[in-house]
Amino acid sequence: MQLSRTDFCRLLAAGALAGCNRPAPETTKKAPTMKKESYGKTKGGEAVDLYTLSNAGGLTAKITNYGGIVTHLLVPDAKGQVADVVLGFDSLDGYLGTHPYFGAIVGRYGNRIAKGRFKLNGTVYKLAVNNDANALHGGLEGFDKKVWTAREAGPQSLELTYLSKDGEEGYPGNLTTVVRYTLTDANEIRIDYEATTDKPTVLNVTNHTYFNLSGEGNGDILGHELTLEADRYTPVDAGLIPTGVLAPVEGTPFDFRRPTAVGARINADHQQIKVGKGYDHNYVLNGPAGTLALAARVRDPKSGRVLEVSTTQPGVQFYSGNFLDGTVKGKGGKAYPQRAALCLETQHFPDSPNRPNFPSVVLQPGAKFQSTTVWKFSAA
Ligand code: BGC
Repeated sequence: MQLSRTDFCRLLAAGALAGCNRPAPETTKKAPTMKKESYGKTKGGEAVDLYTLSNAGGLTAKITNYGGIVTHLLVPDAKGQVADVVLGFDSLDGYLGTHPYFGAIVGRYGNRIAKGRFKLNGTVYKLAVNNDANALHGGLEGFDKKVWTAREAGPQSLELTYLSKDGEEGYPGNLTTVVRYTLTDANEIRIDYEATTDKPTVLNVTNHTYFNLSGEGNGDILGHELTLEADRYTPVDAGLIPTGVLAPVEGTPFDFRRPTAVGARINADHQQIKVGKGYDHNYVLNGPAGTLALAARVRDPKSGRVLEVSTTQPGVQFYSGNFLDGTVKGKGGKAYPQRAALCLETQHFPDSPNRPNFPSVVLQPGAKFQSTTVWKFSAA
């Protein structure tokens, strides 16, 4: 049917052709949505999923609700070449086996508590001991081995919740922990942590991702240039428990206040380097705790990739992958030898429950623990 010009104008005036005088709708650029797929089952038969977050900058993160593990982090270099910059496995099976906390959320208490015990309000709590005489990273079955309840909190935001029951691994209080991973268009992974309890307890939750900015399985991190915003660190005893001293980094192999290759002094004749078999130490961050500030910057001269870590936490554990020994076979069956990656675990100081001079890790009922860490990637 053909309309005369007069008919067309009459219909238009009557509103019957509503929309025909509007400009054609622009094809709006939709934010990519999060992909969810089955990742298999735990040995106990619990179903686990894998979530893929991606952004316009070409960054892709894969995260599973098993242990809140960041399984893959695909990051472009300056030429747009993408590499997976985190150690891990090809499938859930690898993560169900023995491995040194690849990509995982660690808690309730990331890092060590001396002799696996602490006193709170007059009661001595005895924890599972899993690192010689000490408790490490939450015990025998910490947060890294739990299935978290997942919720898509936004187009590129995955929220994970876990209720740790009163007495789990020896810790008091029903503790609800919420960890939210958000991928931003500024090529950041933002990690927000929150926790509440119904009894006084202690808590130190972090993420244990192993980074190699050249790509996982692609050599060691000795050439990575590291800057740490810390004038002091916490020296340790033979069991890697802090002595309680906040020592200046000045004049030691621990001074990373200017960009320095990780490998430059890693074999230095220094008692603390020997104890840690390299770097396995907590740094006391200069920025005021509670305010999001730059903690560390890592640059890989080979690929030009840069990682900047900002946090509200008072400390960061710089671990240079000293205990990796090639026995764990990772993605594509690749062995991960010593120093194949480094960790920057933003945290409270190790053994804080036994160190009144360290910032407190006590969480009271009615209060909310909150911390934020941001990993920002770029390339030059
Ligand atoms: C610790 C290391 C430990 C590694 C794997 C790090 O956070 O500081 O001593 O070997 O985690 O468990």
